[in-house]
Amino acid sequence: MKDAFLQACRGIRPTYTPVWFMRQAGRYMPEYQKIRQKYDFLTMCKTPEIAAEVTMQPVKILNVDAAILFSDILIPLEAMGFKIEFADSSGPKVSPTVRTGSDLKNLRPVELPIINFVFETIKILTKELDVPLIGFSASPFTLATYVIEGRSSKEFINTKRFIFSEPESFHNLMEILTDATIQYLIEQAKAGVHAIQIFDTWAGILSPYDYEVFCKPYVKKIVEKLKSYVPVIYFCSNTSGLLHHIKDLEVDVVSLDWRSDIRDACLTLNFQPLQGNLDPLVLLGRENEIFKRIKNLLIQAQCAKSHIFNLGHGVNINTSVDVLKKVVDFIHEFRF
Ligand code: CP3
Repeated sequence: MKDAFLQACRGIRPTYTPVWFMRQAGRYMPEYQKIRQKYDFLTMCKTPEIAAEVTMQPVKILNVDAAILFSDILIPLEAMGFKIEFADSSGPKVSPTVRTGSDLKNLRPVELPIINFVFETIKILTKELDVPLIGFSASPFTLATYVIEGRSSKEFINTKRFIFSEPESFHNLMEILTDATIQYLIEQAKAGVHAIQIFDTWAGILSPYDYEVFCKPYVKKIVEKLKSYVPVIYFCSNTSGLLHHIKDLEVDVVSLDWRSDIRDACLTLNFQPLQGNLDPLVLLGRENEIFKRIKNLLIQAQCAKSHIFNLGHGVNINTSVDVLKKVVDFIHEFRF
């Protein structure tokens, strides 16, 4: 198995910089669209042969150094009795919502057999892949925003109202989601994933104080439990003001969005392994601008113990497959 990605997770610099992309399987890719025209997104996630095939597409087509399980952060909610929907136009929906302490009674303990398709997909993939497989979950806080809002949100009014009016009940919700996430991730590790990434997409909506109280302890608990199984990557967004807290999580790799200067992050995070952090929309621009920025980023990220190249968020749907292939080749061939 190609080892560059896992070496970098452990703080070793391989001979070339490993690269993969968040949302590397998706609608920008004609091969994905071909399958997607026949099945809806949830059916694809729930059919191990299809989920495995789609996971492997970017490995074969782009030559990336790691695969990420084809699934969604909302899938484990089904194992807790929630209904999830992915309507084409309006994004994901979760029901029933949990917006007060008394709504907590609707939560059921996690029943992982309900989502056994996830672990079946992992088992197929570990036989077929020649690169490491990344499993994932949301952070309990990011997952809570979907449970509370029932959908993607801009202002997170219901989430913040819950935190600031019933902080004790909000902590109860976080404890339930944290325990479910730990069980879910341990099961992924047992099925064979080589690393896990915790997506904390919405951590950046919290003030440093509220991040410290309502988000950080729960991520820390997951990291403590999972680190003995596989390396843990923590993806966070809009969190340059939270990096001193993120340092305390003691994750193996911090994955940054493009709003953080990678050199500043390096110093605050005490040179630990970093992943990221090109603005995904740079890839819609002119090629000489793309490669200029990638080169700068690779050089700046040298301050970290090791670096895994990635985007600061998922691949945009308008991205050209050809550009992504050239980006992977450029990074693999780049020598300092
Ligand atoms: O990165 C990968 O290739 C692995 C698969 C993956 C998906 N979603 C597939 C997906 C992963 C790791 C996710 C994580 C995820 N899902 C996050 C965290 C990362 C981030 O993007 O911030 C979040 C917030 C979600 C919730 C979610 N799922 C939203 C908001 C949407 C709608 C947006 C959109 O692009 O349609 C989804 C749907 C989704 N998840 C798709 C895919 C490939 C599109 C489904 C389709 O084909 O219609």
